[in-house]
Amino acid sequence: MNILDIIAKKRDNENLTKEEIEYFVNGYTNNEITDYQAAAFIMAVFINGMTKEETTNLTLSMARSGEILDLSTLSQTIVDKHSTGGVGDKVSLILLPIVSSLGVLVAKMSGRGLGFTGGTIDKLESIPGYKTNISIEQFVENVKNIGISLISQTLNLAPADKKLYSLRDTISCVESIPLIASSIMSKKIASGAQKIVLDVTVGKGAFMNNIAQARELANTMIEIGKLANRQTICILTNMDEPLGYNVGNSLEVIEAVNFLKGDMPEDLKQVVLNIGSYMLKLAGKGDNLEENKKKMLENIKNGKAYEKFKQLIENQGGEISFIENVENIPKAKFIEPIYSLKSGYIHQINALEIGKIACSLGAGRIKKEDSIDYQAGIVLQKKVADFVEKGEILAYIHTNKIEKLENAKNNILNNIKIEKEKIEIPKTILEIIE
Ligand code: URA
Repeated sequence: MNILDIIAKKRDNENLTKEEIEYFVNGYTNNEITDYQAAAFIMAVFINGMTKEETTNLTLSMARSGEILDLSTLSQTIVDKHSTGGVGDKVSLILLPIVSSLGVLVAKMSGRGLGFTGGTIDKLESIPGYKTNISIEQFVENVKNIGISLISQTLNLAPADKKLYSLRDTISCVESIPLIASSIMSKKIASGAQKIVLDVTVGKGAFMNNIAQARELANTMIEIGKLANRQTICILTNMDEPLGYNVGNSLEVIEAVNFLKGDMPEDLKQVVLNIGSYMLKLAGKGDNLEENKKKMLENIKNGKAYEKFKQLIENQGGEISFIENVENIPKAKFIEPIYSLKSGYIHQINALEIGKIACSLGAGRIKKEDSIDYQAGIVLQKKVADFVEKGEILAYIHTNKIEKLENAKNNILNNIKIEKEKIEIPKTILEIIE
């Protein structure tokens, strides 16, 4: 077997065997296959696709490319969640303490943001002191002690995915169903998840731009889950506009804390409650989804979810005073309002463009090595379907780079569409596939 024949086979749209896929994954992980050969292979997959069988074999090979975490010493089924990515997506920060406060064990490894999408780890690291990089023993110990731990995926888990994801990002090959499905499911399998709830985002700020593609991605991941004996449920959610109001790392932590204290933007609330109700069900904490949502709301109201969030932050070294008093979280030097140029109803807030603008202000990485400005970002004041008066504030820009202000301001104005006609509030939960 050799890599040239494998590349040629995929280039010519032929199906690969399990052994050929394993040869590629192992060879690339061990640096025996070069980046340019892997790039050619990945581009061939991007263009010609993969069968379900090939995608499953790719997933399992990637999962086995490093350690597979054994969480069987924990006393419960581990239910994990993952999102296919979005703008303003602070769901994990909110949802996981809520379900933990209801007795679900949370042992979660999250990723960093890349490009226009944010990552939970960057958001957590915006809290001074919070350690995302702890040993596996400490991680398991934390889950045993307080029921929740959130860390970065620094362990030797699915190393093939780490290499392939970075490579895909540099050769415009992210938006591919077999590649996204294998990337997500290999990480979930390697990180010890026994049951999985996936937030499959759809729209302008997501990798899947329409519902048909999202359905196909969801069905592919569910199928892989079945073959790997991991029950998987997919919730398709709207990512045409940013989720909630705040985009940018510490700005999203502030919105998460406010949510846990009862200030809940409707779209964010829908995503949190729907994913959470399924997590509770899969963890054996209640079969009735509506009852589960009520329990989650109850633990927000009685402060238990917020207390669990504080306990998580404190237990991993974070400075709790910043959480107890979000006004003390350091802000960017320049906070600039953007005024509406006309009156009317908001028809569109383009999530992709808002994500890119936030990134240009310093909130995200253009390249993997870039450092992040935790304070940078955008705070929207309106959502789609809201009415705005001419001269009213549409959003605030937060940045430490004054030279970026003018451009960001014009770009934001160009990406919020205002029309005379009223429109319906868009649906947030588009479909649930079990
Ligand atoms: N999230 C992942 O973990 N992998 C992808 O390929 C896309 C989104």
